[in-house]
Amino acid sequence: MPENILIDRLGRIAKITINRPDKLNALNIKTRQELAEALDELRVDDEIRVVVITGAGEKAFVAGADINEFAGRTAVQQRTVMKARSIFTAAEDFPKPLIAMINGFCLGGGCELALSCDIRIAGERARFGQPEINLGIIPGGGGTQRLTRLIGEGKAMQIILTGEMIDAQEAWRLGLVNEVHPVDQLEEKTMELAAKIAEKSPIALSMAKTAVKNAARMNLREGLDSEIDLFALCFSSEDKEEGVRAFIEKRKADFKGR
Ligand code: COA
Repeated sequence: MPENILIDRLGRIAKITINRPDKLNALNIKTRQELAEALDELRVDDEIRVVVITGAGEKAFVAGADINEFAGRTAVQQRTVMKARSIFTAAEDFPKPLIAMINGFCLGGGCELALSCDIRIAGERARFGQPEINLGIIPGGGGTQRLTRLIGEGKAMQIILTGEMIDAQEAWRLGLVNEVHPVDQLEEKTMELAAKIAEKSPIALSMAKTAVKNAARMNLREGLDSEIDLFALCFSSEDKEEGVRAFIEKRKADFKGR
């Protein structure tokens, strides 16, 4: 049984809760390992079509890497830790949609975890930042790359160079989060969105996720070529036949993930 995360299965949706509220859900080595293992488990669970990641308690999504683990660590030790399986890459490569439900502080590695998810939904009290610069370091979990790609260089630069926090409305204005909701509606609204996505073909969802992610990995020509291949691959699924037939028969499609 994991110690620092909880996994709830709610029909086709799984919710992973990072559960160290007394440390604002900071990511220590054990939590990272458990999170990676949870994603491995949910990756092959055919019942699960969408995964929501959130933080326990009312204060934090994730307040970053566990700073206590940095003390006294050498460069070589830190590199070894970071070159081990990355939760950020694991999230990005996860074949099902991942939604970050951001219920509070979303800082450093927490912001990088949210950036590695596909969609970010925030509560109105959430606060965002890459405060690494205040510790004399820089973001190392993809913050300089994913934040820049998401909101543009100038805005990412300001967040990373100042280390200052921004609130949920500002994060929405910048395009860092997709939606902001009152705290008491955050879970309901996030689950509504997850349920809507979970009705789609899991094969098409996976292809769509890969195709969109490729926009940041490939040049335009490669991305367009890859999109055609992924589009054509959907034609090998029963779900494509079901989707097309359901449209013609004017009924709701029942996608089986085959
Ligand atoms: N790593 C380890 N512990 C952390 C942590 C982190 N990233 N963020 C918070 N905590 C711990 C605090 O040390 C404190 O533990 P304690 O009760 O044993 O002393 C507990 O979580 C509560 O945090 P606290 O600082 O008391 O809450 P606050 O409301 O006063 O401040 C923050 C909240 C988020 C502003 C503050 O905790 C903070 O700046 N955290 C670090 C953020 C950061 O730099 N992240 C990037 C790391 S690379």
